[in-house]
Amino acid sequence: MIVEAKGLRKRYNTVWALDGLDLSVQEGEIYGLLGPNGSGKTTTILILLGLTEPTEGTVRVCGYDPVREPLAVKRVVGYLPEKVGFYEELSAWENLRLITRLNGIPEPEAKRRIGEALEQVGLAEVARRPVATFSHGMRQRLGIADVLVKKPKLAILDEPTSGIDPEGAAQILELIKRLRGEAGMTVILSSHLLYQVQRICDRVGILQKGRMVAEGRVAELTGSGAGFLAVVEKARPELHARLEGEEWTLSVEDLGGGRLRVTLEEGAREKLFEIVAEEGAIITELRPQVRTLEEIYLRYFQE
Ligand SMILES: Nc1ncnc2c1ncn2[C@@H]1O[C@H](COP(=O)(O)OP(=O)(O)O)[C@@H](O)[C@H]1O
Ligand SMILES: [Mg+2]
Repeated sequence: MIVEAKGLRKRYNTVWALDGLDLSVQEGEIYGLLGPNGSGKTTTILILLGLTEPTEGTVRVCGYDPVREPLAVKRVVGYLPEKVGFYEELSAWENLRLITRLNGIPEPEAKRRIGEALEQVGLAEVARRPVATFSHGMRQRLGIADVLVKKPKLAILDEPTSGIDPEGAAQILELIKRLRGEAGMTVILSSHLLYQVQRICDRVGILQKGRMVAEGRVAELTGSGAGFLAVVEKARPELHARLEGEEWTLSVEDLGGGRLRVTLEEGAREKLFEIVAEEGAIITELRPQVRTLEEIYLRYFQE
């Protein structure tokens, strides 16, 4: 595990921004830290970087403890903050040169890396233009170049697509995915826009009020534990009532004309067969129910 956090809690005055968070990220994966605004994504990131301390809990990042060894963590982790700031009057190239100086990367190597990073994010052509003339999307790209010049083992990107139009966001995400492959980095990215980023994530963790409410591969989260969906025909009202009374029934919807749409727990198929047969109805469709990640998200965030 490149990141391992256990039992993280963080209190700001009276607010618990994190309330018992476990997080583990494997080397080489793109991990999406997802959740609505205020759910604790940035707080988690700041703790991983050693920029703020957890009130309780333990963290390891690339083998270091960010609380005790923040500088060691800083050396191996690249960070794109939610709001990147650049020197507006300086060019993209000059801004990156400052970063390489701050990171103690020597001259010839620094220049090589800057050229490479600007090339990778598609800003090579405008490298000498002042950042003041850059669009929001270009700034985000420059922010990513900023991360790349460090050649980090782990890149942490806080809301890398926020405020960018859908097309620009898709391009940034593709870029992140490509760079993960090329540079062999591990990437943690946060977002409140689940369906925008889920596509490029190997795994996601969904945060709500400082807790991880769901975690796993997107396919796992959407495919399992959602129960079964059945369509029943020739159903009389008695069957409807009886199904509603069963504890393994998740929902019953009347489609009209004696048709019912029933969702049930995974282990209750046999029981459904029995009851439907007893009531003289038939099952015309039965399949595992697949939830979209969006449905999971809404389920947690509506409460
Ligand atoms: N410096 C701070 N002081 C006080 N409260 C804070 C501070 N930073 C964050 N919070 C609170 O902690 C919670 C989590 O915030 P944050 O980690 O920024 O969430 P997210 O990044 O998911 O939007 C919110 O309720 C927020 O208001
Ligand atoms: Mg945030």
